Amino acid sequence: MTTNPTSTSTHSSSTGSLVQPILQARNLVKRYGHVTALAGADLTLYPGEVLAVIGDNGAGKSSLIKALSGALIPDEGEIRVDGDLQRFRSPLDARSAGIETVYQHLALAPARDIAANLFLGREIRKPGPLGWGLRMLDHKTMRKETARIMGDLGLLTIQNIGQAVETLSGGQRQGVAVARAAAFGSRVIIMDEPTAALGVKESGKVLDLIAGIRDRGIPVILISHDMPHVFEVADRIHVQRLGRRIACVQKTDITMNDAVSLMTGAQAPPTDHDPEAAPARLVRR
Ligand SMILES: Nc1ncnc2c1ncn2[C@@H]1O[C@H](COP(=O)(O)OP(=O)(O)OP(=O)(O)O)[C@@H](O)[C@H]1O
Ligand SMILES: [Mg+2]
Repeated sequence: MTTNPTSTSTHSSSTGSLVQPILQARNLVKRYGHVTALAGADLTLYPGEVLAVIGDNGAGKSSLIKALSGALIPDEGEIRVDGDLQRFRSPLDARSAGIETVYQHLALAPARDIAANLFLGREIRKPGPLGWGLRMLDHKTMRKETARIMGDLGLLTIQNIGQAVETLSGGQRQGVAVARAAAFGSRVIIMDEPTAALGVKESGKVLDLIAGIRDRGIPVILISHDMPHVFEVADRIHVQRLGRRIACVQKTDITMNDAVSLMTGAQAPPTDHDPEAAPARLVRR
């Protein structure tokens, strides 16, 4: 492991603790019969950072983010948003706390069109009595907004915004899910392998989008197997192994090879680092 002595001292826990984490998970446990998906997992996310979560297949990355986004109720452990204890019973609870998630297996409604998917659960109603009385949906406004959001994000390779999601290509579907998270995530955006189904050009757009979201002050948790993507966009790297966080390091303190060795268990986690230390960009500000 390559450690940078100057930055390690800057990121001492006393410095890091000055910045309040926006999202914090402690000792999360989730068992499915004899299978332990989460074995006491921790996670700390600071405002304005991109936190990459890496780990081998089955390391518990998706389970961890499902717990953070209300899609899974942990058996043990606690989750805090801005220091306040939360008990998410459903994804809706997490969404109302401002946590928006792009799941690895996309949670889209395939038979509905793109606009309906983007506004799923937050439909815009027609103004006046048609809307609040007859509960009629304002499809025109939702389609217009959808075209604007997708266009702004540079994700508009779709020719017809009224197209059913099931007729879109895998990459385009991913684009819809990413657009939905980016448009509505107000506190935290979580993306589980958002570039896995994307071509080179679309992946580039999603990475730009992640950096753009971070620059708007909204932190992003990015789960990815793609080390070049991780190293391009992350501030810190959380390494998940056998259901728990075994390390969390500043990107500048680790090489790609070391990250892979940690992930696979070929290298032991560093003993001289503070996984809770705030990202360098916050500490230096
Ligand atoms: N619903 C479930 N029922 C039984 N076992 C499960 C369930 N969900 C997850 N697991 C198990 O928990 C472990 C962690 O799974 P998880 O999906 O969180 O891994 P992951 O790190 O996201 O893997 P990948 O990189 O392949 O996406 C695996 O061994 C998996 O088989
Ligand atoms: Mg997964």
